[in-house]
Amino acid sequence: MAAKTGAAAFMFVLFLVSVACQAQLSPTFYDTSCPTATSTIRRAIRSAIASDRRMAASLIRLHFHDCFVQGCDASILLDETSSIQSEKTALGNMNSARGYNVIENAKTEVEKICPGVVSCADIIAVAARDASAYVGGPSYAVKLGRRDSTTASRTLANAELPAFFEDLESLISRFQKKGLTARDMVALSGSHTLGQAQCFTFRDRIYNDSNVDAGFASTRRRRCPRVGSDSTLAPA
Ligand code: HEM
Ligand SMILES: *[C@@H]1O[C@H](CO)[C@@H](O)[C@H](O)[C@H]1NC(C)=O
Repeated sequence: MAAKTGAAAFMFVLFLVSVACQAQLSPTFYDTSCPTATSTIRRAIRSAIASDRRMAASLIRLHFHDCFVQGCDASILLDETSSIQSEKTALGNMNSARGYNVIENAKTEVEKICPGVVSCADIIAVAARDASAYVGGPSYAVKLGRRDSTTASRTLANAELPAFFEDLESLISRFQKKGLTARDMVALSGSHTLGQAQCFTFRDRIYNDSNVDAGFASTRRRRCPRVGSDSTLAPA
């Protein structure tokens, strides 16, 4: 009898483990647990973009920078603690990544209707899609059911986020390591249609690169001198 119960308990645990391992992301993940999750997120995202147009770009980039480090797990949202090295201060994020507060507001709204149900990782993913759609970019179904990380890594963020000074070969290899092709990289880089970049990130390109359109480089040089104006913005 005890052996039988033990076996049953074991089978049940095995069943749980297999469910956890096979758990599939699905666009309908919250349809029963929180039916208004996605519309609540959309409302929060639209309102943030309505008062700051650039936020659409910033939320898309936040999703990218979240996913490139440990996967799309909201690790980018974690602040520094004694046991967590925040990714917010990694080279590619510090004084550059924006929209943390917008995600936090969306999470607050979602918590009001369905406490403890919707992950921050899903909110970031949905926010990026909603941002794109709201400003006239592409829309797409977002699969849901991601879990939030309890860890973050500035070390990984510094090592894995693509940097502005890298060459094409190096960038392609970065994306390849994430299972993305050069073609994927080019398509995704189309999101630079939106948003802004600081002078220090493109300075070398407009003064030193021979493969940048001369007229474009000269326009950019007007507000991005060889020295100074490091944070002056130009379309990304
Ligand atoms: C291919 C490698 C990439 C490099 C080297 C790169 C680099 C950069 C740099 C240097 C900036 C300006 C940041 C600043 O000045 O603060 C920027 C902005 C931006 N990036 Fe990328 N990026 C890459 C790929 C991507 C991808 C894949 C996405 C999204 C799918 C993306 C979305 C954006 C957006 C939307 C902005 C503007 C953000 C804003 O205005 O707040 N980038 N990127
Ligand atoms: C361009 O290249 C020169 C020579 O390698 C270097 O000294 C300079 O810092 C580079 N960048 C700019 C913005 O001139």
